[in-house]
Amino acid sequence: MGIERCETGIPELDQILRGGIPKGNVVLLAGGSGMGKTTLTLEFLAHGAERGQRGLFMSVTEPVQTLRRNADEYLFMQREYFEDGRVRLVDLRAVMQRMEMAEASAFTFEDTAALVEVFESVVREYGIKRLVVDSITAICQRIEDPGRIRDFVFQLGLTLSELECTMILTSETPPRKLVYSPFGVEEFIADGIIFLSEMERHNDLVRTLQVMKMRGTDHSRAKFMMDISEFGISLAPLLKKFGDTAAVGGVG
Ligand SMILES: Nc1ncnc2c1ncn2[C@@H]1O[C@H](COP(=O)(O)OP(=O)(O)OP(=O)(O)O)[C@@H](O)[C@H]1O
Ligand SMILES: [Mg+2]
Repeated sequence: MGIERCETGIPELDQILRGGIPKGNVVLLAGGSGMGKTTLTLEFLAHGAERGQRGLFMSVTEPVQTLRRNADEYLFMQREYFEDGRVRLVDLRAVMQRMEMAEASAFTFEDTAALVEVFESVVREYGIKRLVVDSITAICQRIEDPGRIRDFVFQLGLTLSELECTMILTSETPPRKLVYSPFGVEEFIADGIIFLSEMERHNDLVRTLQVMKMRGTDHSRAKFMMDISEFGISLAPLLKKFGDTAAVGGVG
């Protein structure tokens, strides 16, 4: 019997992952600025909402009003998802206020433990099955002792995985470098890494997506061309390598 999957809603990516992200996995979505991290996660949440799975987007870097405005531009995102609570946009600052934490201060060990508890209680309370943290980098940068980053990400993943919640953490990386996270520990703790980048091709700059790892499933490791439009993300094979193309069902 196959494992349970959480479809991303991007058909080609689901084929690359042989059906979707294994349920409960923690996935690091790494990429430079403007590479499409937020768009991919919004599509992931919209797909869940369409199937009645509740999603939560924890915004760390962008005010939720801006995010909501940007989300409205995408045709995959329905207004009703926000209105009936299938997609919740939460500002980390609001959470911190609830925790009576000073906005500018660094996170102590106790703060990070409290943060994991908040995530857990929100996920339980609303029955969240898809969680996005955009970005985990911005949270990690505020952790007082970098030695604690590993514990924090590990605890967060473990806690939510037990609640059968599939999580995408976005990771901000420098442009065009094969680096998945600024602290270099997030990728070891994450069950999966999806890497967004760009490359020159025929004098044009094309976006690319590559699944670098995904625990619990076979997957293509090929690099795909990625396009963003108002319909969302679409992928096409970059190299028509025999075998891989066939394995993803001739995507594109
Ligand atoms: N409606 C749209 N149609 C086509 N392309 C769009 C649309 N909306 C956004 N984009 C493209 O997507 C890019 C932004 O993607 P997104 O915000 O998902 O990137 P990001 O990786 O989250 O960036 P950051 O690191 O700055 O948060 C824009 O720069 C633009 O090129
Ligand atoms: Mg973004």
